[in-house]
Amino acid sequence: MKKTVSTFAAAKASGEKLTMLTAYDYSFARLVDSAGVDSILVGDSLGNVILGYADTISVTMEDIIHHTKAVARGTQEALVVADMPFMSYQVSVSQAVENAGRLLKEGRAQAVKLEGGVVVAEQIKAIVEASIPVVGHIGLTPQSVNAMGGFKIQGKDEAAAQRLFEDGQAVERAGAFAVVVECVPPLIMKQLTESLSIPTIGIGAGPHCDGQVLVYHDMLGLFAGFTPKFVRRYAEAGELIKKAFGQFVTEVKAGSFPGPEHCFGDLESSIPKMY
Ligand code: KIV
Repeated sequence: MKKTVSTFAAAKASGEKLTMLTAYDYSFARLVDSAGVDSILVGDSLGNVILGYADTISVTMEDIIHHTKAVARGTQEALVVADMPFMSYQVSVSQAVENAGRLLKEGRAQAVKLEGGVVVAEQIKAIVEASIPVVGHIGLTPQSVNAMGGFKIQGKDEAAAQRLFEDGQAVERAGAFAVVVECVPPLIMKQLTESLSIPTIGIGAGPHCDGQVLVYHDMLGLFAGFTPKFVRRYAEAGELIKKAFGQFVTEVKAGSFPGPEHCFGDLESSIPKMY
């Protein structure tokens, strides 16, 4: 059955945990969707894991639309959420609404996600009023890496925790149907989850969230860079794939691939000489 914003509200009410994973292309969207996740995020993490940037700053609307189209074609049941890239919503409220609309009209996402709390509440409200469901994103917001002075745990002291609560309240009041909370201590997260009526989807925020999100490259060992502390490696797929590629190289060099079973016709057949 197709997951919708109502699935999120129902999960918050019943206490059932929500799941979200990233995908950036058709084939992985099919795999993630068939595993039964509630939501697929076309994250701007594609800047890191697909495009090879050191951060998400350079990701464009065109990048996200291109990948969201492919993900939407591969998804039947999960709710597809597209990330709004850096500078696609900060400049003005009207530009935010226009760009959010493009992610639905051109990308075929069913919702958008944008980073920030109090400072983007006006944008969230206007996007929601345009009938576009919004997921907020507070705590560590990777698009603000330069302003934050690096990728740092958020909400660690009382003042920072207070700001996190204000951000959560602002996102909820503006009409978001869920909020991603990244890299905050678990006990602060517990209070935040209890204080909000929309579901919290944690990443590096401990178990006291209404759901969890991971970047699949991290959980499958596909990303050669740094693996964050909060990631559980569910498979060493990177090693497996490297081994398969190596075997292909060995077998082609040795002449054992392709074998007769991979050929269209008899290897020794008497076809007319062409030269
Ligand atoms: O871009 C992304 O993948 C994200 C997740 C880390 C939540 O925003």
